[in-house]
Amino acid sequence: MMEFIFDAPTVIRTKRDGGRLTDAEIDWVIDAYTRGRVADEQMSALLMAIFLRGMDRGEISRWTTAMIASGERLDFSDLRRDGRRVPTVDKHSTGGVGDKITIPLVAVIAACGAAVPQAAGRGLGHTGGTLDKLESIPGFTAEISKAQVRQQLSEIGAAIFAAGELAPADRKIYALRDVTATVESLPLIASSVMSKKLAEGADALVLDVKVGRGAFLKTEAESRELAATMVELGEAQGVPTRALLTDMDVPLGRTAGNALEVAESLEVLAGGGPDDVVELTVRLAVEMLDLAGIDGTDPAQTLRDGTAMDRFRALVSAQGGDVDAPLPIGAHSETVRAPRSGTMGDIDAMAVGLTVWRLGAGRASPGERVQAGAGVRIHRRPGEPVSAGEPLFTLYTDTAERMPAALGELDGAWSVVHDRPAEPIPGSLRSGPPQRPLIIDRIA
Ligand code: URA
Repeated sequence: MMEFIFDAPTVIRTKRDGGRLTDAEIDWVIDAYTRGRVADEQMSALLMAIFLRGMDRGEISRWTTAMIASGERLDFSDLRRDGRRVPTVDKHSTGGVGDKITIPLVAVIAACGAAVPQAAGRGLGHTGGTLDKLESIPGFTAEISKAQVRQQLSEIGAAIFAAGELAPADRKIYALRDVTATVESLPLIASSVMSKKLAEGADALVLDVKVGRGAFLKTEAESRELAATMVELGEAQGVPTRALLTDMDVPLGRTAGNALEVAESLEVLAGGGPDDVVELTVRLAVEMLDLAGIDGTDPAQTLRDGTAMDRFRALVSAQGGDVDAPLPIGAHSETVRAPRSGTMGDIDAMAVGLTVWRLGAGRASPGERVQAGAGVRIHRRPGEPVSAGEPLFTLYTDTAERMPAALGELDGAWSVVHDRPAEPIPGSLRSGPPQRPLIIDRIA
């Protein structure tokens, strides 16, 4: 019946001309697209119209609900371990460069006694995705059954899986946005994140909303609006939701690229790793544990004492991976060296993200295979001393022809300055000159 009332060209035209989509139009177009009755080219046109014209909070809420309704919704309210109910909590980031936080964070939360049912995504635009990263571990699979997710949550406290039957509309739209330049849209980001996260059935959610050059939304005001929108969507569905606004002007840590980021995550799980990655992991863990009602545990201690590492190893081996197998690294490498001595100045996160994408770590067409070993190693972070001739960045790829464009992307995106390194911002563990603090605000 619905098929005769609605048609894609009319829905596209309404949004193209700045109109508002009705609840019924949204329900129809999401359902019809999920079933293959609206074509990719029609959805692409609608996504571009939404990108250009936006959606109001009512439209975003309905779009999110329709995406959740396109698939299953998991329920872990009866999850138990040793006869006791285990609280579930998850985190999602709006997308950054070098943002490998999910990998140590999931293990930390599991080690502290909560469980994380994490429906993760693939790379999007210039940002990496947790699934692409973890699949660089030999044997690791994210295609696990619901029964296995439940078993892992109860036994290990963590499962990281492809959304699969959860919000299948998002899976299709996400892949389409990735290759149609329609990623950087507040309504599309908010509905994409929240449809997956609400469908996965966690009791509570913490969102890491990025601010700065490497974020999808460019101004702090837009990121604040995104955070407030997502918190409202979660609370409206009865799921306690909080957001941290965090800096994404410079890449997180010293690596960007799938396998390189897994290696750095293992350093963090072994009690080391870059200070900003550790700081953000611990801050997000504190919020998650608070929402899960777990107190008296110190998340940082689980990184120092190896209990988070134990959970990560158990998680990877339950999902077929071999943490001890060597991680892939691109067959071709180029090193960018310091032109003079001084202090590392700025590093533009967006340029690093695009460099990594050009090296082969992301996709230019739907379903393309990403290179596990492609990426950038950052030898000097902002504020660190630099000697003339020493390595600043190493670029890796399996495809030598990709190297010139990647080097071109990085060109002009960093500086070595003469000044002495300034003191870090008080209260921040992050070294380097006073940039914006890593944790900018908390929205609850
Ligand atoms: N993460 C998502 O799941 N979707 C987006 O649109 C951006 C980040």
